[in-house]
Amino acid sequence: MSELKNDRLLKAIRREPVDMTPIWIMRQAGRYLPEYRATRQRAGSFMTLCKTPELACEVTLQPLARYALDAAIIFSDILTIPDAMGLGLELIEKQGPVFARPLREEKVIKNLRQPDFESLSYVYEAIKLARQELAGKVPLIGFCGSPWTLAAYMVEGKSVPGFPAVREMMEKSPVLLHHLLDLLAKSVAAHLAAQIEAGAQVVMLFDTWGGLLETEDYFNFSLHYLKQAIRDLKEHYNTNIPVILFTKGGGRWLEEIAASGCEAIGVDWTVSLKSAREQVGLRVALQGNMNPACLLESPEAIRKEAANILQAYGRGSGHVFNLGHGITPDVPPEHVSVLVDAVHELSQAYHAA
Ligand code: CP3
Repeated sequence: MSELKNDRLLKAIRREPVDMTPIWIMRQAGRYLPEYRATRQRAGSFMTLCKTPELACEVTLQPLARYALDAAIIFSDILTIPDAMGLGLELIEKQGPVFARPLREEKVIKNLRQPDFESLSYVYEAIKLARQELAGKVPLIGFCGSPWTLAAYMVEGKSVPGFPAVREMMEKSPVLLHHLLDLLAKSVAAHLAAQIEAGAQVVMLFDTWGGLLETEDYFNFSLHYLKQAIRDLKEHYNTNIPVILFTKGGGRWLEEIAASGCEAIGVDWTVSLKSAREQVGLRVALQGNMNPACLLESPEAIRKEAANILQAYGRGSGHVFNLGHGITPDVPPEHVSVLVDAVHELSQAYHAA
């Protein structure tokens, strides 16, 4: 494997000195890029794009060809695990992900098993190809959904505001839900370990729907299983690859998330990076946290907001610039250049000796 030429991301996560703040963007390979839309059309469907390693590798690299990003993230989806468990995933235009066989019956949940990881080998093949093609240009991030977020989609069958079906299970059949979450935590650790084995140099856990929960429920139904998966990954699979944990809406629980075993916390734009840094101290790095809607504003407004976020974090290492959630399809691609260049230029003052 080639030596890493740009290791700003890894250094920032380890809180080691960097020359400038690294930046990458959640959903950086996505519909705002015309070349993504073209490859997606060539693939025929989103799932075919995910399941064809050459095409997944191609779209992974597309944003790197345009922008001076400091990381690549493998093109895939968090819902590949439930798909491989037999739920049958399809992405329906204007509706989002839909499972053919959502989890509704106790018997089905009790009979559910970890996926056959052979059937997820398209993810690992795409990672191997992307590492080869990157040739050490930037590190490659692997990822997975959190057990709670996966369970929310699996029980609901699709994206429904507030996820009422999984909440009802939480009220009426908590033991059954804990059984499902335990199975998912084991599957998440195994899937991340396989991505690391294939070449992922950082891994990220997306807990998109953890923020829906009340505090005690977040600790019991989401964070508990995130910790279990991270512990399993580090101890059972014996890896020391850094873990970024992103709970959207998790700004209330930074202390507890910092103690989860992760190396970096992703934060959304409702959090002040200044107070987040004060809370987590030197325990973990922070990733975030521009509002994706800022990328629809003028180049001047984007530079100004980038400056504000860099100032909020302040001097020194430990910050990975990102959005507070995924980039939206309506962002003009030129605006991403403005942001990436602004972060690199304006952050140097915060890292000078
Ligand atoms: O960040 C990246 O560039 C890597 C690729 C990536 C995708 N999904 C590709 C994708 C990642 C990291 C994800 C994670 C993911 N998937 C999450 C967690 C992050 C988040 O956004 O909260 C979630 C909740 C999903 C589930 C999912 N997949 C949804 C809700 C949707 C529909 C979203 C929409 O905007 O229509 C998807 C589809 C999806 N996954 C797209 C992409 C680029 C859009 C696909 C398309 O139509 O081409």
